[in-house]
Amino acid sequence: MGELDGRVAIVTGAGRGIGEQVARKLADAGAHVVVSDRDGAEAEAVVGALATPGVAHVGDLTADGVCDALVQTAIDTYGKLDIVVNNAGYAWDGPIHKVTDEQYQAMLDIHTVVPFRVLRAAAPHLREPAKKEKAEGVEVFRKVVNVTSLSGVMGNAGQVAYASGKGAVVGLTRAVAKEWGGFKINVNCVAFGVIETRLTASIGTVGEVEAGSSGERITLGVPDVVRQNFGMAIPLGRPATAEEAARGVYVLCSPASDYIHGQVLNVSGGLSLGMAS
Ligand SMILES: NC(=O)c1ccc[n+]([C@@H]2O[C@H](COP(=O)([O-])OP(=O)(O)OC[C@H]3O[C@@H](n4cnc5c(N)ncnc54)[C@H](O)[C@@H]3O)[C@@H](O)[C@H]2O)c1
Repeated sequence: MGELDGRVAIVTGAGRGIGEQVARKLADAGAHVVVSDRDGAEAEAVVGALATPGVAHVGDLTADGVCDALVQTAIDTYGKLDIVVNNAGYAWDGPIHKVTDEQYQAMLDIHTVVPFRVLRAAAPHLREPAKKEKAEGVEVFRKVVNVTSLSGVMGNAGQVAYASGKGAVVGLTRAVAKEWGGFKINVNCVAFGVIETRLTASIGTVGEVEAGSSGERITLGVPDVVRQNFGMAIPLGRPATAEEAARGVYVLCSPASDYIHGQVLNVSGGLSLGMAS
């Protein structure tokens, strides 16, 4: 018996990195997972490796209608939805004087607009069953976890666009938490520090992705001079693995978080960028 037996989860950006590890943990606990990613081969490979039967949904979540289609896939396949993890994202960095309109919009689109659209599409499937349960005097907790970043809650030089998108998703989280608390839908954020994925790999070693409305190719990763400082800056002395990062998300998807609501959980090894309210 897993603690999430029979639950149905959507995890966006689950084709690799942190999202893949979240999908694996949810499936290990018994949930069925809709693995959402723009990269089809990666999404299908993750589905094939899960401990429970899952399904891939392939598409660019920033394209019209794709967030709605993702939620519909969960409903068509499993008839319900219990857990949503908004994790898909990437960084298109630059200091403010060099950031283009397209670049700034792209960061808002993937980090704020997409979670908004996924949750709007998920709303009836999370709220309506809760109304029935309330009428029957039963409490069933459903879960939303939005992925943000220390950059979004504390700021980070060179990441004005990324930080704006990741900051706005905190506001989205807290507003939805106030709307959905009465339905016993826990809505929280995880703010990651430095996690070893292709986003933090040595720049140029992990290839390029398409970004923004024009599909401009951008290089992923960070400069080695920055990577060399990670160990000094992080109190726990090193970045997290993607699996360690996923544990923070998992807690907020599990019954352990039933009374945790509207919070931002830092999963950063103690790293703090220093400017918080
Ligand atoms: N790695 C870190 O240090 C770190 C730190 C803070 C926050 N984060 C956040 O964690 C999340 C996961 O990042 P990761 O490090 O695992 O990166 P990753 O690149 O390993 O995985 C992200 C996945 O999201 C998918 N994706 C991106 N844009 C998409 C779109 N438009 N439609 C569908 N899928 C899309 C990618 O294809 C990829 O598989 C992101 O939101 C990222 O901003 C990461």
